[in-house]
Amino acid sequence: MLSESRFIKACRREPVDATPVWFMRQAGRYMPEYREIRGRMSMLEAIRNPEVSRDITLQPINAFQLDAAIIFADILTPLIGMGIDLDFIKGEGPHIENPLRTTRDIDMLGVPAAAEALPFALEAIRLTAAELTPRGIPLIGFCGAPFTLASYAIEGGGSRNYERTKGMMYAEPAAWKRLMDKLVTVLSDLLARQVEAGASALQIFDSWAGALSPYDFDRYVAPYTRQLIENARKSNVPVIYFSTGTSAMLDEVARLGSDVVSVDWRVRLDRAWQTIGSDRAIQGNLDPLLLFAPWREVQAQADEILAQAGGRPGHIFNLGHGILPGTPVETVARLAEYIHEKTARLEQVNL
Ligand code: CP3
Repeated sequence: MLSESRFIKACRREPVDATPVWFMRQAGRYMPEYREIRGRMSMLEAIRNPEVSRDITLQPINAFQLDAAIIFADILTPLIGMGIDLDFIKGEGPHIENPLRTTRDIDMLGVPAAAEALPFALEAIRLTAAELTPRGIPLIGFCGAPFTLASYAIEGGGSRNYERTKGMMYAEPAAWKRLMDKLVTVLSDLLARQVEAGASALQIFDSWAGALSPYDFDRYVAPYTRQLIENARKSNVPVIYFSTGTSAMLDEVARLGSDVVSVDWRVRLDRAWQTIGSDRAIQGNLDPLLLFAPWREVQAQADEILAQAGGRPGHIFNLGHGILPGTPVETVARLAEYIHEKTARLEQVNL
């Protein structure tokens, strides 16, 4: 049934009645309903409570015309089960008390099964899919990519230059390989279990891959990411690879083998598609900052993206990165509606 949804059809490059839309970080602080819940509990408490996770996942689905939901969780929670002491600090973001600094730290990392380490995450997917399936809306499960997760685990939080991560990669290649292999094992299991629990598609977030040179990406990172994608595709759901800042190495990105490639706004969608190849679906690529602009500007740039997609099957409209706190809710609502209206009309004209 969900294989007939716009979103899944577009992932498979089948024709659709209107371009599907969803927004990265569609559940979050820009929504008053979300802030209300976060006023009562911490980020980790919300993630660890399957009912709360379900309710937050459904908030944007109930508020806007979206064609897919993404489970409310975080890419960093799998690190906790591996032995990393993670917290989210208000106004600062993720913080890790015991970052990986030595090869011994890497060898001490556990490789727990998702069913043991993240039972709440799988239960949240079961509860959410039970609500969404009758409404015909697919649920996206996700994980972080090995490089992006390693960068948090090694730096201890967000980073500008990734000096410790790259330092480990260059100076301790054997330990780096062991770390990447452990992450691939943990993440492959997590993705497979999410599909069993009811996820209809999987997205792999490699938010900081753009910090790498094409050489480093190919040599130190891509083999592991490719393995993760290959493992994920065995669950027979579409796999989306998301990254930012990678527009100068989209050929390397395409070689990772995902069904859908998510691109940011630093590249024209039509050129990205040319590089990636017409045998792949493409997701993107509005700059999230545009949602703060006057509607005429949002509309003009959304039109431009749709023109570049050119009505070809396999376009999923999205942002190039997550919705930012403070984004006007009305613009989000209007944009989702507008993409549907505009592309439904286009199809009639084409007929
Ligand atoms: O709606 C959704 O997108 C689903 C939930 C989701 C969250 N994080 C919730 C969240 C998803 C898919 C993520 C992925 C994630 N988490 C990524 C990859 C995507 C990206 O944006 O690049 C990354 C890098 C993280 C790590 C992370 N988590 C950071 C850097 C931060 C702090 C930044 C911030 O916005 O505060 C988080 C916290 C976080 N994860 C929030 C949410 C809604 C904000 C927490 C809050 O309520 O204060």
